[in-house]
Amino acid sequence: MSASLGSEASTSQLREPVLIALLVCLVFYAVTKYFQTSGCPFAKAPKAAKKQGSMASTATTVGSLRLTLAELAQYDGQDASKPLYISVRGKIYDVTAGKTFYGPGGPYAVFAGKECARALAFMKVTPEDCNDDLAGATAAQLKTLADWEAKFDQKYGAAGLLVAQQ
Ligand code: HEM
Repeated sequence: MSASLGSEASTSQLREPVLIALLVCLVFYAVTKYFQTSGCPFAKAPKAAKKQGSMASTATTVGSLRLTLAELAQYDGQDASKPLYISVRGKIYDVTAGKTFYGPGGPYAVFAGKECARALAFMKVTPEDCNDDLAGATAAQLKTLADWEAKFDQKYGAAGLLVAQQ
């Protein structure tokens, strides 16, 4: 009798610290996950070195595509037969593989066919921020933008560059 009471007491004594430890782990996981991302708490951060040497493009590889801003606008997902492009600081990415993000009705459809440096730096999903104007960006916002570029370099690879209107 007393032995079973004793084991009940020690079980409940154990339960509380275990729960607290679990809670601490959960908070720690959420915080580290938040800070390792490019501002968007859910976007996966680029994996360091993992894909290097494989077929995946790296930051140094830029494809041969050259488009003006007006031409880029034709790749906004309205014509389903065309690929989806976005530009970040003049680097064009083919984000067709991310159609669920950038295609019509997607959460980031506003970025498709546009230059998105400002929106990504300032973490905005608004058409008026889809441009390359980084005026007023803090060091942290420029870092956020650099993190996005690293993510896109790794995930999609740069297909080409924006060029000035002829
Ligand atoms: C609380 C607000 C937000 C939620 C719940 C959210 C949710 C998500 C989720 C679930 C993903 C997919 C992650 C993955 O599988 O890689 C994602 C990716 C992304 N998010 Fe957000 N997001 C939020 C805010 C923002 C904001 C403000 C921006 C503005 C720049 C943003 C830009 C992006 C981009 C560009 C991607 C990457 C898509 C890709 O991999 O091509 N997010 N977000």
